[in-house]
Amino acid sequence: MSNLATERVISVHHWNDTLFSFRTTRNPGLRFENGQFVMIGLEVDGRPLTRAYSIASPNYEEHLEFFSIKVPNGPLTSRLQHLREGDPIVVSKKPTGTLVLHDLNPGKRLYLLATGTGLAPFLSVIQDPETYERFEKVVLIHGVRYVSELAYADFITEMLPQNEFFGDAVREKLLYYPTVTREPFRNQGRLTELLDSGKLNDELGLPRLDPAHDRAMICGSPAMLQDCCELLDRHGFLISPRIGEPGDYVIERAFVER
Ligand code: A2P
Repeated sequence: MSNLATERVISVHHWNDTLFSFRTTRNPGLRFENGQFVMIGLEVDGRPLTRAYSIASPNYEEHLEFFSIKVPNGPLTSRLQHLREGDPIVVSKKPTGTLVLHDLNPGKRLYLLATGTGLAPFLSVIQDPETYERFEKVVLIHGVRYVSELAYADFITEMLPQNEFFGDAVREKLLYYPTVTREPFRNQGRLTELLDSGKLNDELGLPRLDPAHDRAMICGSPAMLQDCCELLDRHGFLISPRIGEPGDYVIERAFVER
C-alpha cells in the first residue's frame, strides 16, 4: 500500500451513458509532468483494484482530474462510475508515461491525435504554457464514434481561450478538430484518413505533414496507434524509442481495459 495515497472525490461529471470525468484531491507531494499517467482505483475486499489513468488536469492545479469510460462489467469502472463527492480513491505516488513534451524534437507544429478517452493526456498538455512556448501551432484532433462523446469540447473552445495566463496563446495557436465516424457531424471520418488525404490540413490551412517541422503525440486504441504509426513512419517521422530519448513523435495506449 505504501506506493498508494488515499484521496477524496471532489466532483463527478457524466458526459453521457459511456463517459464521465471526476476530480480528486491531490497530495501536495505528488509531482508530475503534463501528459503522464498514474494508477488509480478503489479498495475492493480490502485490496486496491487499480488501473492506469492519464491525468487530465495540468500539473499546477491543486486537484487531479480523470476522464473515464464506463465499461458495463469492467472490474473497476463498473464501480468507479458510481463515485460521489467525498468518496475515497487511491492514487499511486509515481506518475510516468511517454506523452511528454521533452521527448519531442524541436518543431513548428504539434499534432495531438486522440480517439475516445485518449483525449485525457492532451487536456493536460494543452493547459501547459510550455506547449505554446515550444510550438507555433498546436493541433488537437479528437476522433469519436458519436457526437455525445466529444467531451470537453466547450472547455477547449470556450473556456481555454479565456484563460487569464495563456488564453492569448491558445487563441493564436490552438486548433481543435473534432471528428465523428458513426453519425453526421461537421467533420467526419477517421483521423488517420483525414490526415493521409490531406483533407484535415487543407481545412485548417496547414501545410501537409512534414517531419522537418511537425511533431506528434498519439493516444488511442492499439489499432489506432498502429495505423497512426504506420502513417507517420511512411511520412518519414521517427518515433521516440523510449522515455528520455526524443523523437518526432510519441505514443501511448489509451487505457480502456477497465
Ligand atoms: P470507427 O467508428 O470507424 O471505428 P473506439 O471507440 O473503437 O476506440 O473508436 C473511437 C474512434 O476511433 C472512432 O471514431 C473510431 O472509428 C476510431 N478508430 C477506431 N480504430 C481506428 C484506427 N485504427 N485508426 C483511426 N481511427 C480509429
